[in-house]
Amino acid sequence: MRQLIAGNWKMNGLGASLAEIEVLRDTLASRPARADILVCPPATLVARACAVAGKAIAIGGQDCHPEPCGAFTGDISAEMLKDAGATSVIVGHSERRQRHGETDDLVAAKARAAWRGGLNAIICIGETEAQRARGETLKVCASQLLASVPDRAAPDSTAIAYEPVWAIGTGKTPTLAEIGEVHTAIRSHLAGRFGDAGRAMRILYGGSVKAANAGGILALRDVNGALVGGASLKAEDFLGIIRASPGASS
Ligand code: PGA
Repeated sequence: MRQLIAGNWKMNGLGASLAEIEVLRDTLASRPARADILVCPPATLVARACAVAGKAIAIGGQDCHPEPCGAFTGDISAEMLKDAGATSVIVGHSERRQRHGETDDLVAAKARAAWRGGLNAIICIGETEAQRARGETLKVCASQLLASVPDRAAPDSTAIAYEPVWAIGTGKTPTLAEIGEVHTAIRSHLAGRFGDAGRAMRILYGGSVKAANAGGILALRDVNGALVGGASLKAEDFLGIIRASPGASS
C-alpha cells in the first residue's frame, strides 16, 4: 500500500509560507516522492496553496462542518474546501476533540460530510497520557474507531490517523513497539469490521514525527504513513520525513 505523508499546519501560515510549498514542489519535481504527499494549510491558504502545489502535492483542509452550507458563522464545509481545490480533510483531530468539545458522533458526521463533498477523510483517534497510564490505550482507540469511523468507510475515501494526544507537539513519542501494537490493533479492528476494505485502509501515525524518527516509524508493519504537525511547516524538515518513507508498506 502506498504510504501517505500528510502535513498539518494547524493555525500557522501566511501568504509568505506558500514559499515552503514551492520548495516542496520544486524539490519533488527533480526527485519524486515515493509516497503520496498532502499538505493541510489553514483554510485561508487552501486555494492559493492549490495554485502553487503542482501535481505531486495534494492540498487538504484541517476540519469541516457536517452541513454543506448554512448559518454557521466561522465554519467551513467540505464542499467549500473541495471548491477551493482540496482533496482531503482532517476530522477529529485531538485539538478539535479537546478544545472544541467534538464528540465521536460529530467526528463521524464530519467524515460523512467529507465524502459527500468529494473529499477523503483523515479520521484521527488517540489516547491521552492518563488513559495510557491506566492501560486503556487499545480500549480507547477501539471505541473511537467504532464511533468516529462511519460504516461506509472505504480505502479510497478514508485514512485513519493514530495520534496519541500526549505525543502531539511534545517531542515525546511512544516506542516503536507501542506504535506497532496500536497499529496492529487498529488493523484488526478495521479488518474485522470492513473485511478487505479494512485491510486496504491507510493507517497513519502522528505525534512528534520528525526526520530523525520517521524512518523507524514508517518501517513498521501497518504504519502506512504519517500525519506531521510542527515538522511539516518548513519544507526542509518535511522533506526529511518524505525521504524517510519507504514508499509502500503492508
Ligand atoms: P506534531 O503534531 O507533529 O507537531 O506533534 C501532529 C499532529 O497534531 O497532527
